[in-house]
Amino acid sequence: MRGRFITLEGIDGAGKSTHMRWISRFLQRRGVRIKMTREPGGTAVGEKLRRMVLGKGQRLHPETETLLMFAARREHLDKLILPALERGTWVLCDRFTDATFAYQSGGSGVPWDKVGMLEEWVHQGLQPDLTILFDLSPELGRQRAGRKRRPDRFERERETYYRRVHEAYRRRAQAGAPRVQVLDAAGSRIEVRKELEDILTRFCK
Ligand code: TYD
Repeated sequence: MRGRFITLEGIDGAGKSTHMRWISRFLQRRGVRIKMTREPGGTAVGEKLRRMVLGKGQRLHPETETLLMFAARREHLDKLILPALERGTWVLCDRFTDATFAYQSGGSGVPWDKVGMLEEWVHQGLQPDLTILFDLSPELGRQRAGRKRRPDRFERERETYYRRVHEAYRRRAQAGAPRVQVLDAAGSRIEVRKELEDILTRFCK
């Protein structure tokens, strides 16, 4: 039987990486074979592109970033994701195309439709079977990081940026229901685990 494809999304600091291993173990206990991976990355070329896009150095044009994300994604689908799914292995991926809509379109202003065109080209009909969106307001994200004093100009700019990223994620969630399950990431670790358990139990039925 074909494997299932699960992606995790959310603004930086929403906690998805903390819960990734737990999700993997939860599914393994149910007898599922799991491959964990991430974007950008997942293949040798993808990891190189990750360093190019996220590393220090001159900031790339947002459309260059978008194209590189999808170039890495094409390799990732070809070399890792699709072969694993065909073998019956489930794939758990830290970020996928919803992140390009959120960051490059919502955050950096690349037209939504252009990202949509690339999605259609590169995905060729594939969508994750389940996407868990760790939903956290940028304000709470900042408070969690312990920055309680008044934000300076740079931090305010960052906050406006994250607000746009957050809104774009919500827009994707609305358009992508029921694939996208929104999880309230503002709760305690135990509350989040409980929500995750509910989502995964429903999904595995
Ligand atoms: P993340 O996966 O959270 O890794 P880390 O835990 O090491 O910070 O961060 C990856 C960054 O890549 C994050 O800031 C979002 C960004 N990103 C995009 O801008 N577009 C994309 O399409 C993807 C997949 C990620």
